[in-house]
Amino acid sequence: MSYLVTIAPAQLSFAVQEGETILEAALRSGIDFPNRCRQGVCTSCVCKLKSGEVRYNVPQPLTELDKQQQFTYCCLAYPNTDLVLHHPFIRG
Ligand code: FES
Repeated sequence: MSYLVTIAPAQLSFAVQEGETILEAALRSGIDFPNRCRQGVCTSCVCKLKSGEVRYNVPQPLTELDKQQQFTYCCLAYPNTDLVLHHPFIRG
């Protein structure tokens, strides 16, 4: 089982396999995806969720503001569905 993730506005797409975070799948696919800490701290990997649903292992990193803004920590998030995410600094 894998899910398709598309990053706007670059319109890059990649598949995320079971057990892989969004960031791991993006890097495996050769995408220059911003990241530093890989622990939900630095926010460099944070995207805005445009469609679909993600999940986290506990403890999940989201603040109330993150939830309101649909922010997604790609270093910790696993897709539950196909996704469209927005990250302004990812280039095609
Ligand atoms: S890489 Fe730092 S929050 Fe995801």
